[in-house]
Amino acid sequence: MAGKSEKLLSILKLQPVVPVLIVDDAKSAVGLAKALVAGGLKAIEITMRTPAALDAVKAVATEVEGANVGAGTILNARDFEAAVKAGSTFIVSPGSTPGVLSAAKDSPVPLLPGAATASEVMALREAGYEVLKFFPAEQAGGAAYLKALSSPLAGTLFCPTGGISLKNANDYLSLPNVVCVGGSWVAPKELVSAGDWTGITKLASEAAALKA
Ligand code: 3PG
Repeated sequence: MAGKSEKLLSILKLQPVVPVLIVDDAKSAVGLAKALVAGGLKAIEITMRTPAALDAVKAVATEVEGANVGAGTILNARDFEAAVKAGSTFIVSPGSTPGVLSAAKDSPVPLLPGAATASEVMALREAGYEVLKFFPAEQAGGAAYLKALSSPLAGTLFCPTGGISLKNANDYLSLPNVVCVGGSWVAPKELVSAGDWTGITKLASEAAALKA
């Protein structure tokens, strides 16, 4: 597990913000990922919320130089395995279930499981996880809540996601228990459907300039 935590951290530390993408068209995912990488965001999470998601992971993994593509919204073992097969270098889940944890145990690809309460964090620590997704970050209590967990649950690192934007990202990034944040704001639907890759690269550059 230590090796997998290190692998995950090395990906999450590539940048302060991991873009969380909902992709409707696998072809546009390549242009989108190239635009994000050009702006300095190399670790990219494609959520398994659309029929195009697996093909999008495959396309980005094979066609976008410099990208580290992960799969998000993994809710069960079957999706975990399919996402790994498609070329995901990391897996993200909004929570954790015995099925997802068991698939993760059998896989060389690291999992970033979600937690929102002290007990969830403790259970994942017992299962060997040191790096967790704090989800849904703003709705669960925001940066103040996460800060309150940092002393009793010292040693756990988080990637908060949910309701984060350029405006409040620093509230999280300045905490000692935050390694990066995740967010969809760097890839707004309007820019993606217009194929405005220059606009996406600009948003990515602003996000990449935040201090991790
Ligand atoms: C999600 O899973 O939808 C992510 O947490 C992204 O949240 P956001 O759209 O609020 O950035």
